[in-house]
Amino acid sequence: MAEGFSQSSGEAPEYKLVPLRGFSLISGIHSPEVVDQIQNFEIQDSDVFVITYPKSGTIWLQQILSLIEVKGDVTATINQLNSERVPWIELLDSRKQFVSAPSPRICVSHLPYKFMPVGLKQKKGKVIYVARNPKDVLVSYYHFHKYANMLETPKDFDTFFEKGKEGNVFGNCWFEHVKSWFSHKDEMNFLYITYEDMIKDLRSVVERITSFLARNLTSQQLNDVIEHSTFKNMKNNPQANYQQIPVILLNHQLGSFLRKGTVGDWKNYFTVAQNERFDRVYQQKMKDAHQQGLKSKK
Ligand code: A3P
Repeated sequence: MAEGFSQSSGEAPEYKLVPLRGFSLISGIHSPEVVDQIQNFEIQDSDVFVITYPKSGTIWLQQILSLIEVKGDVTATINQLNSERVPWIELLDSRKQFVSAPSPRICVSHLPYKFMPVGLKQKKGKVIYVARNPKDVLVSYYHFHKYANMLETPKDFDTFFEKGKEGNVFGNCWFEHVKSWFSHKDEMNFLYITYEDMIKDLRSVVERITSFLARNLTSQQLNDVIEHSTFKNMKNNPQANYQQIPVILLNHQLGSFLRKGTVGDWKNYFTVAQNERFDRVYQQKMKDAHQQGLKSKK
């Protein structure tokens, strides 16, 4: 059982989006009080925070970081799920999990910058931000909504397109998320990577991560990390594929975290008109971020 989800394994609570300082949380798995405490967490230099907008490859980073810590030895990860090894900081019992984890404490989060521990903004700990083409994020999130019981089931893709584009989902607006983190990057020990770069050349992204975290892996150990982080191997790995998340949260008959794992799936869903509209919003919202050096990834 993934510990961060275990409190939700009995009777299904009522899941709905609840606001906290302009951000939407999911009642039943998040609590505004708990999330508001995160900024006071004491940060150690060895702490690692992986930040993603939902559906950008969080589960992939959980696998990669788990493997880096055991130098690619997948047998060393079989006694614990990745969601316990690299837990979500915003889930209900996050404080307990975070404080009691052995060093290096590694966690993931979908929260925007404003909720993060003050220490991170004073160059303590390290932050890895993973961005993905928002069009592919929207498609992946659409499928996730169809099988995640804690999220509203979309009527169809067109309805979800409007909702996702406007940010009326957990994670809120994709544009604000990436910009909120990127614009503060100089305050933090910050590494920015993209899903697309991982698909193109996983080895070089893993090398960037190991060098950022100052972990020394041999070439064979790096090969092992990469080998056990492929889509196919993760899909078959019960520690990595999230099949053990309770059914009251995820209806595994209707979908899977490791769904397709490709770049450009949006082309199978967006109409020409939707694509043009999305591009217009993208240009308008991302102009300032590109001036600050954020790579264009649409
Ligand atoms: P798709 O739905 O497009 O397949 P998150 O963990 O943030 O929810 O992201 C899930 C997305 O990352 C899914 O995208 C999933 O398939 C993709 N993903 C996870 N592990 C992957 C891997 N090893 N290779 C490629 N894509 C991966």
